[in-house]
Amino acid sequence: TEINLEEHFQNKIDSEIRIEPKDWMPDAYRKTLIRQISQHAHSEIVGMLPEANWITRAPTLNRKKILLAKVQDEAGHGLYLYCAAETLGVTRDETINDLHSGKAKYSSIFNYPTLTWADMGAIGWLVDGAAILNQVPLCRASYGPYARAMVRICKEESFHQRQGYELMMKLAQGSPEQKAMAQDAFNRWWWPTLMMFGPKDADSGNTELSMKWRIKRFTNDELRQRFVDVSVPQAEYLGLTIPDPDLKFNEETGHYEFGEIDWEEFWKVVKGNGACNKERIETRKKAFDDGAWVREAATAYHEKRKLREER
Ligand code: ACO
Repeated sequence: TEINLEEHFQNKIDSEIRIEPKDWMPDAYRKTLIRQISQHAHSEIVGMLPEANWITRAPTLNRKKILLAKVQDEAGHGLYLYCAAETLGVTRDETINDLHSGKAKYSSIFNYPTLTWADMGAIGWLVDGAAILNQVPLCRASYGPYARAMVRICKEESFHQRQGYELMMKLAQGSPEQKAMAQDAFNRWWWPTLMMFGPKDADSGNTELSMKWRIKRFTNDELRQRFVDVSVPQAEYLGLTIPDPDLKFNEETGHYEFGEIDWEEFWKVVKGNGACNKERIETRKKAFDDGAWVREAATAYHEKRKLREER
């Protein structure tokens, strides 16, 4: 019966036995995984755009190579994640349509513009740093295909974070103009990065069940706190000022306390009204339409081979 199936399912989760595509799972578990994995895939794909903006203007050949590799990695991450979502019974077309129609969410962070070269450093250091903290626990997510996809993704994110920090270090140790550029990028990316972790636990509708199902292992606030705790010393090492007058270390808890996040801004961006939301979706739609001939050619080739084999 349904009750026994549900109990058996939860027992597997509690004993850290992975759930695989053909196993029975509650509808709500399937639904939340489709939601999270597809949002995650979209974030990787849309996340290519802010950085792609700087590929042609990278200051050296070496920097261009690094940036190209990173943006390509993100395309790969998106593709593994779309495949993981497909194992739950949605098609790639449905998922991509939802992105293009504005129905599906993707990370708020990718709706901010990349104004200077220093933004490439700030994104790598902060945005990819936040992504790692959020994604390393996902390598232990209860759903097998998602967890396995995350292993390689996290290795690559780690390279992305390091190249960003190294870029910031170069700027921070450079001329006064370069240092000012690094500080300006830091000022603009700090708060949006804190928003990446999602709403406060009290306002996070999905956390409770996702924790029970061991999709999430930590809450949004727990991961955000960890991010602040690791990033403040990194900023100090760079000699940059954290753009938060309320930031202070609490000796008793051993954690940094930080100022209030502008949640109004967060929801504005999530609802589609950030600086670049429209431009991002338009760019994705155009890329999809411009690539139609590739998909058509691949399908025609497949059909031709099938006919030849049948003969
Ligand atoms: N940007 C856009 N939407 C967000 C964000 C964000 N930064 N944070 C939360 N939301 C949305 C949620 O998707 C949810 O909407 P929905 O119910 O319509 O799907 C709503 O706000 C409420 O949030 P939560 O209940 O806290 O949602 P959830 O439990 O899914 O937690 C989180 C959000 C932490 C982002 C989770 O989905 C997650 O870990 N996802 C996988 C990682 C990921 O997608 N990272 C993307 C950025 S990193 C990168 O791609 C490089």
